[in-house]
Amino acid sequence: MKTFDVLVVGELNVDIILDDIQGFPKIGKEILAHNFNLTLGSSSAIFASNLCALGSTVAFMGKIGTDDFAVTVESSLRQKNVDTGFILKSDTYKTGATVVMNYDMDRANITFPGAMEHLKEEEVTDAILKSAKHLHLSSVFLQTALKKDIVRLFKRAKNLGLTTSMDPQWDPQETWDLDLSQLLPVIDVFLPNVLEFQFLTDSDNIASGLKKMSPIANHVVIKDGENGAHLWSDGAMVSKTAYRNDTVVDCIGAGDSFDAGFIHRYIQGKPLTECLEFGNVTGAINTTASGGTAAFKNREYIGAIAKNQFSYDIEK
Ligand SMILES: Nc1ncnc2c1ncn2[C@@H]1O[C@H](COP(=O)(O)OP(=O)(O)OP(=O)(O)O)[C@@H](O)[C@H]1O
Ligand SMILES: [Mg+2]
Repeated sequence: MKTFDVLVVGELNVDIILDDIQGFPKIGKEILAHNFNLTLGSSSAIFASNLCALGSTVAFMGKIGTDDFAVTVESSLRQKNVDTGFILKSDTYKTGATVVMNYDMDRANITFPGAMEHLKEEEVTDAILKSAKHLHLSSVFLQTALKKDIVRLFKRAKNLGLTTSMDPQWDPQETWDLDLSQLLPVIDVFLPNVLEFQFLTDSDNIASGLKKMSPIANHVVIKDGENGAHLWSDGAMVSKTAYRNDTVVDCIGAGDSFDAGFIHRYIQGKPLTECLEFGNVTGAINTTASGGTAAFKNREYIGAIAKNQFSYDIEK
């Protein structure tokens, strides 16, 4: 018997969110933001929290410091019932933090990675992997120590019988150096957004990128913001349009919430097109509140937003 549905291995940080800013900051000057929020950040943590709120059982494996932000990260995860027992606390490194400057639908981020850069592949032991049915990893480019052994981690997970998924997220160095020919065969569901997909495949459109990925990939899900998302599987592509939200608060974490919806249904063995649809629902729900987790308080709350704003019954 597995203890958890999903093991999330990944980066942990807080988001310091500045909203309603008077223009763009300039060196040597000061401007004001008229709203502020301190929340659990990090792609992996938003994914884990929201997946748990949807009803999956989730454990987290990552590295934080012993500072106040570490307390915020851990308590936020626990509030969402994410198991934090595997998280390593470092005396040497500080907990990561991202300053998020929101401008209408877009944003500029600055991240201090801290402890997240120092999680090592061998620290994710077989015993930890064996505790779950599915492994999800996000933000590989922020986890430099883990990244160099990422293929080995996924191979071990597959050998131990787990299903796997990965959201690569943005590469701050913009080198996009991932060994896809080794990595994609051991990832069941690969979840980049359009831009990440194009950089990773060195292509200027989805069709030519898929041509390159098709000999090595299993299922590829490409997130396309307010356009929705595309699923490539068994040689065919299916696209689904997004749920329209005319009152978007912000889009922080929409991709992670999409992933949570998709994987929640995927581990239940639902058809991939249903997973895609549900990803679009949870992505849209994410845009109804500030930050990545505020709209995902619990299943009942999520269900009410889905029903009232997007006419979708999450129990169907
Ligand atoms: N304005 C919007 N209205 C409705 N749905 C949206 C909107 N923006 C995003 N979504 C939903 O969220 C999903 C993920 O969004 P997006 O493509 O921005 O992912 P991402 O770039 O990976 O995001 P993140 O910055 O969180 O990593 C989309 O595929 C879509 O289903
Ligand atoms: Mg993303």
